[in-house]
Amino acid sequence: MGLDAATQRDFDLRWARYIPQIRSSLEILYPGRVDEVESRLAEIVTTAMSERPEELKDLDQERILRPDWLQQPEMIGYVAYADRFAGDLAGVGEHIDYLTGLGVKYLHIMPFLQPRDGANDGGYAVADYRKVRSDLGTMDDLERLTKSLRENGISLVMDLVLNHVAKEHEWAEAARRGEPRYRDYFIMFPDREMPDQYERSLPEIFPDFAPGNFTWNDEAGQWVWTTFNEYQWDLNWANPDVLYEFVELICWLANKGVDVFRLDAIAFIWKRMGTNCQNQPEVHDLTQVLRGCLRIAAPAVAFKAEAIVAPEDLMPYLGVGHHYGLVSDMAYHNELMVQLWNSLATGGAEMAQVALAEMPLKPTSATWATYVRCHDDIGWAISDHDAEMVGVTGFEHRKYLSDFYSGAFPGSFARGLVFQENPVTGDRRISGSCASLAGLEKAVEEGDEEAVELAVARIALMYAVISGYGGVPLLYMGDELGMFNDMHYVDDPSHAEDNRWAHRPFMDWDLAKAVETDTASPAGRVNAAIRHILAVRTATTQIHAATPSVPIESPEHRLLILERNHPLGKMVQVYNFTGETVSLRHDVLAKRVGFDAHELLGGYDWDLRLPRIDFAPYQAAWFVGAEI
Ligand code: GLC
Repeated sequence: MGLDAATQRDFDLRWARYIPQIRSSLEILYPGRVDEVESRLAEIVTTAMSERPEELKDLDQERILRPDWLQQPEMIGYVAYADRFAGDLAGVGEHIDYLTGLGVKYLHIMPFLQPRDGANDGGYAVADYRKVRSDLGTMDDLERLTKSLRENGISLVMDLVLNHVAKEHEWAEAARRGEPRYRDYFIMFPDREMPDQYERSLPEIFPDFAPGNFTWNDEAGQWVWTTFNEYQWDLNWANPDVLYEFVELICWLANKGVDVFRLDAIAFIWKRMGTNCQNQPEVHDLTQVLRGCLRIAAPAVAFKAEAIVAPEDLMPYLGVGHHYGLVSDMAYHNELMVQLWNSLATGGAEMAQVALAEMPLKPTSATWATYVRCHDDIGWAISDHDAEMVGVTGFEHRKYLSDFYSGAFPGSFARGLVFQENPVTGDRRISGSCASLAGLEKAVEEGDEEAVELAVARIALMYAVISGYGGVPLLYMGDELGMFNDMHYVDDPSHAEDNRWAHRPFMDWDLAKAVETDTASPAGRVNAAIRHILAVRTATTQIHAATPSVPIESPEHRLLILERNHPLGKMVQVYNFTGETVSLRHDVLAKRVGFDAHELLGGYDWDLRLPRIDFAPYQAAWFVGAEI
């Protein structure tokens, strides 16, 4: 395919820039086949560039000029299911005003490609990557939506499921028919010998409803690798044909106006005997190749890694060692999320302080997706080491958190549900909406005004942390209205056994309207608090994600204190994780921001000469020096 002169020039410049990093990863992934793979990738990328709409080429230029676009304080994220938020993709387009009203600049629409019929893991079992789920619209609707979002300064984020396809996907069907080309797209074994060997070191993701990692398929006469559900067939990324398919697909979707790909379950895409088959080094080489190709074809587009893994395994997704700056632009900050809930339950920030301080720094060019809740369950990713550092045992502490958030623990304010209890490991993950877990549901039901006040403050506190931390704070649909668990999921047979649906409610537009005027109701108070926090964040330059938030050791363990050493001046954030007033020695703050400070969330000047500074129950405070 011929390129016009200007596009050819872009291709040449970008190819020269990215091919060394692409090749170095290809050497590791497909030794002996590098030239062949390179020339196939060149063809795919050239075609994609010839098809890229002019408007998106302009966006490419803009983002080449502003490589830190995802790190800006004005980046505010919103996460929603198209149908549950607004009926369909066109409906989402009709609610753009609502999003801009919240300050949203980044919209993650949950899986919207055509999944298999029936149970489909919330859309993560894709049957056709080139079709929009029929009840949500068409590819034309997607293009129309990305265009209107773009006109309103909002980027569209979509899920890209790389680890598996639905067993109804045409590749899987061809594999079942025995076509050798497609057999090699999957990982299959004629008998249990290899699966049994792999199982020795593999964990189970859904022990309740999908035990084991392999499924027998009669038609293929094979054991198929199925990490998640039996209907999600893992792809064989050791086969370069799978790589070609995805490079083509990513470029094609990018050309529809997608801004960010959320690389779903990326940790799992490379398998190695004797390991848990997660976080293998080749995962980062595959990302490096995919990203290199995308940077050539569509430099406006970014990657977000969905790797819910231990902190030491997480940082490579943002690029360490020879992958520095060459893999994903963003990653979920699971550690922060878990520590927030942990701190609320224990009324202390000691473990959060230790765990966050021990995390290696992320590359300065990368950014976090910070979040309080998402569509998934919460797994208590608290290491034995972190627990021991504060004098508790990991096992007992994780058990305590499950008890606390399922509401079983005496005095707990939470109303969560146990997800995937694993009798072997003792794991009990937790489902539940932010408001239900933070105590609002219980407080409202019991008509306890004081408890309502505290629950609202807890929600605001957590949203303040994720908004101040640096990264893109993700507002999970419904949290801004303090929406409770929605137990209707049990009425739908394809959802009934998966209680993650309890925290995937339908948007309550009446409530959204009501809170505009009724700011005294619990929902109104949550809404006002979150809106305020987001507005302050947007205007605070020091929150740019290139600067890390560093926890400081303080004499007061009930407070989490984060320092942001920004060139414009220091910012110190103080978060009180208890329902009591806690006071702090003034010098902890004064030596960082000076005696005359301004507190941004409250909007007051503070005199830090006073010997002790008081923080109200669950207060969040963002201090900067008064002169800035
Ligand atoms: C991701 C999704 C989760 C899904 C899994 C398998 O972790 O967030 O909802 O079950 O991938 O695709």
